[in-house]
Amino acid sequence: MKLRSKDILGLEYLEPDEMSLILDMASDMKKIVQSNMKRVNYLQGRSVMTLFYENSTRTRVSFELAAKYMGANAVNISVSSSSVAKGENLIDTGRTLDVMGTDIVVMRHSQPGAPHLLAKNIRASVINAGDGMHEHPTQALLDMYTIREAKGGFEGLKVAIIGDIMHSRVARSNIIGLGKMGANVYIYAPATLMPVGIEKMGCHICSSLQEAVNGADVVMGLRIQKERLKKALIPSTEEYARFFGLDLRHLAGAKKDALVMHPGPVNRGVEMTSLLIDSDQSKITEQVTNGVAIRMALLYLLAGREEN
Ligand code: CP
Repeated sequence: MKLRSKDILGLEYLEPDEMSLILDMASDMKKIVQSNMKRVNYLQGRSVMTLFYENSTRTRVSFELAAKYMGANAVNISVSSSSVAKGENLIDTGRTLDVMGTDIVVMRHSQPGAPHLLAKNIRASVINAGDGMHEHPTQALLDMYTIREAKGGFEGLKVAIIGDIMHSRVARSNIIGLGKMGANVYIYAPATLMPVGIEKMGCHICSSLQEAVNGADVVMGLRIQKERLKKALIPSTEEYARFFGLDLRHLAGAKKDALVMHPGPVNRGVEMTSLLIDSDQSKITEQVTNGVAIRMALLYLLAGREEN
């Protein structure tokens, strides 16, 4: 089996068997990440470019490491010092990379749909590393991997996602991906940060934090996206922390072995207390490790499509 599309633009476009293929492949890749010999030649002779128009630590570095661990030529394009800063448009930048022999472009952009536009206009595969408030498919895949690793599967799991749902591409991709794999997603947010009609994506809207967390197998917090909060949608971060921040007390209502997750970066004491972030149930650092494995799996599977 192989991936059907040349690009990874969103979990919207992936079938459950493709997601399972990626998660299975990531299990093998994780062994490499955790070994003392992080060097295989699966992508020898291939070129991977990271093109980030928005800030990132985890996603950009994990893609770069993933490419390097598999022997690819990995190049990071700094948007601020590239010809983008001189006014070059996205398609021209993409075509320039394309004709240099790039095999895979990993792209983050503030505009929803920007990776889709690039993918239509270049030969190389495009991986969406986050497009505005739309999707962040590789984050959701690493979240799903973390859940499957701990719980063995998805069918019937209750996953509570709490926080700034409105601006969260992570929430959207997780709602889509987890839903396709048979989990039940419950969401809770301040009314001003709850998008109208989101339940049509197949999730349940909760009217209290406790309703979301009670009986949950997974409790996932989301970052308050200050860079996207154009208006005063919350009175203050202090008030947000008081009514929507997660702490150990809330976990008492969840299953005893519930996982605590957050895509990062975390605003400690706002979305979650440090006690919860650093608790035994927290999978936040494991998510970061799994991110490298998932990105290795994606690069490998996309590169392998052509060979097949
Ligand atoms: N979770 C996530 O996308 O983190 P970065 O912004 O650091 O890439």
